[in-house]
Amino acid sequence: MTTSPDPFRLIRLDSCRSTSDHIKENFARLEKDLPLVVCAGSQSGGRGREGRSWSSPPGLGLYATFAFRLADPRRLPLLSIVSGVAAADALRAWTGLEFLLKWPNDVLQRGKKVAGILCENMVVGEKVTCLVGIGINVNQGPDDLPPELRERAASLRMLSGREWPLGECRERLAAGLADGLRRLAAGDTAAVIERARELSRSFQDREITFRQQGHDRRGIFRGLAADGGLLLDTGSGREKIFYSGEIVD
Ligand code: BTN
Repeated sequence: MTTSPDPFRLIRLDSCRSTSDHIKENFARLEKDLPLVVCAGSQSGGRGREGRSWSSPPGLGLYATFAFRLADPRRLPLLSIVSGVAAADALRAWTGLEFLLKWPNDVLQRGKKVAGILCENMVVGEKVTCLVGIGINVNQGPDDLPPELRERAASLRMLSGREWPLGECRERLAAGLADGLRRLAAGDTAAVIERARELSRSFQDREITFRQQGHDRRGIFRGLAADGGLLLDTGSGREKIFYSGEIVD
């Protein structure tokens, strides 16, 4: 069940409720294996941001949670952006398709969501463990997506007309995330923010709906601040900066 490729120790499960919950619930046993990735063939209760569920049918998508520690916890606020950039660039290098980033880290192609990321932290004693849960729609057909998402989501297969191997998807993603984490540790944050700005340029100066803990605001997206925060012009002549929440449309 367990093998150990670089850069994250791999724990493969046929199915579970949620790969992120699996790590939390088994943390006492798994902690010694950090950094690790738990990858499941399907999830019965995959979770998304803002309390949503994440559709996880067997064998069609990548459902993976990476667990690791940051040498410098002050870098934590940038993790969500680093993960989004890593996923978008890993998928681009692998498939040849161009992807966009919708703040903080939805990965889109032709306006449709292909990948979503849920970043959580576990604090045990003095130690903070980061959990980056990534779901990628890989080989789903239109009928495999929940009906309410068919207009807004797509898989790599639907976008490219061919199937993609899930194992290679995981390896590419792991290598991309490890690279992003190395850059973060080296303090190379300006380059990451610049890449995130490039990937989210098509939203720049557009009117958006921004959701935070169920509360929606309309405003003009003014891009990313130097620390990765979202800049929203709410029309009152003031730009506000947000570090949690998401662009919904
Ligand atoms: C979102 O876009 O709302 C985030 C979706 C994150 C889904 C992934 S799938 C693997 C990991 N396990 C979960 O329960 N959620 C994340």
